[in-house]
Amino acid sequence: MERLQETLEAIFMDLHRHPELGKEEVRTTARVKELLGERNIAIVEHDVPTGVLANIGDPSGPVIALRADMDALPVTEETGLPYASEIPGKMHACGHDFHTTALLGAAMLLKEREDTLAGQVRLIFQPGEEINYGAQALLDTGKLSDVREFYGLHTDPNLDVGTLGIRPGPIMASPDRFKVRITGKGGHGAEPQSCIDPVPCMASMILALQQVVARRISPISACVLSITRAVSGNTWNVTPEHAEIEGTLRTMTDTERDLGERVLRETAASVAKAYDCNAEITYLRQSRPLVNSPEQTAFADRVGRELGFTVIAQEMSMIGEDFAMYLKDKPGCFVRVGTGKGPILHHPQFVADRRALARTSEYLATLAQRRLAYLRTLEE
Ligand code: NI
Repeated sequence: MERLQETLEAIFMDLHRHPELGKEEVRTTARVKELLGERNIAIVEHDVPTGVLANIGDPSGPVIALRADMDALPVTEETGLPYASEIPGKMHACGHDFHTTALLGAAMLLKEREDTLAGQVRLIFQPGEEINYGAQALLDTGKLSDVREFYGLHTDPNLDVGTLGIRPGPIMASPDRFKVRITGKGGHGAEPQSCIDPVPCMASMILALQQVVARRISPISACVLSITRAVSGNTWNVTPEHAEIEGTLRTMTDTERDLGERVLRETAASVAKAYDCNAEITYLRQSRPLVNSPEQTAFADRVGRELGFTVIAQEMSMIGEDFAMYLKDKPGCFVRVGTGKGPILHHPQFVADRRALARTSEYLATLAQRRLAYLRTLEE
């Protein structure tokens, strides 16, 4: 365990020094392939340019997947760590370097235990999580269609090392994005009678859209709508032709997501109509709400406790996570792993405590190993 910890720390610090943004994980991909290759772990070829799939175990048994994401963020690091990012404007500020390293550690342990595995573990080193790309891209390759269950984890700067946050049911939101471009008729600010002013229309729309959450979605549900950008015009005496707002609508269930999108579109269109303006509405669906399956979550909880972790009931979060895409048709569980309390995810001073590495690898490996054994007993 001590040797594994040392090996993993070196890998982690190297990855941390060399962050790469989504779809650009070329070095990280090469490094993961190299480390798996050195241990004779079979790589599964696929046609997504970055990211790695690999297999360990018995292909005649059930297949379960362990997933880590690999991409960094366009953030300038301010941790002052000796292994801080060497690439200006890029940083592993969401701990995906930790996830990649922990999964590599799990791969090393599983390879040692390969003869005892009651099935196959599919390792997923996923590109482009932050840009909501990689999970769907890998699913679209068809190379995951045999996977029975998916498991993944994320660093958590609210939890101490040795703690896991696990919760069944909805845990993270669908981070959908929308934009409304309002068109009126520009002219002189002194002559509103000859213009169609998009500015009051935008003001009403910003307020009216709050009704989507406040009056149409059950108050028992978690749901949020934020307008994060509102722009129009560029001087004091000209009525602008256009106005634009942008924001995010986040829900915890597919039903409320459908309802929210529909009501948002209707509200924006109706408000525009009331002001004689035109509204061009763009609604971008990103990943789904992340919903942990009850049985798999209870299993992940039990294994955590047996390995000596403190397991707490994870709080829900309105942040999105594209691991949700794997759970569209298959069961699974997404776990939060304590990496020491400190600045929040995406913060320039975010640090994942590397002392949590080997324990996390042990957790992932043991979870996969025991789950395969359990699934095999169901088949006999
Ligand atoms: Ni993340």
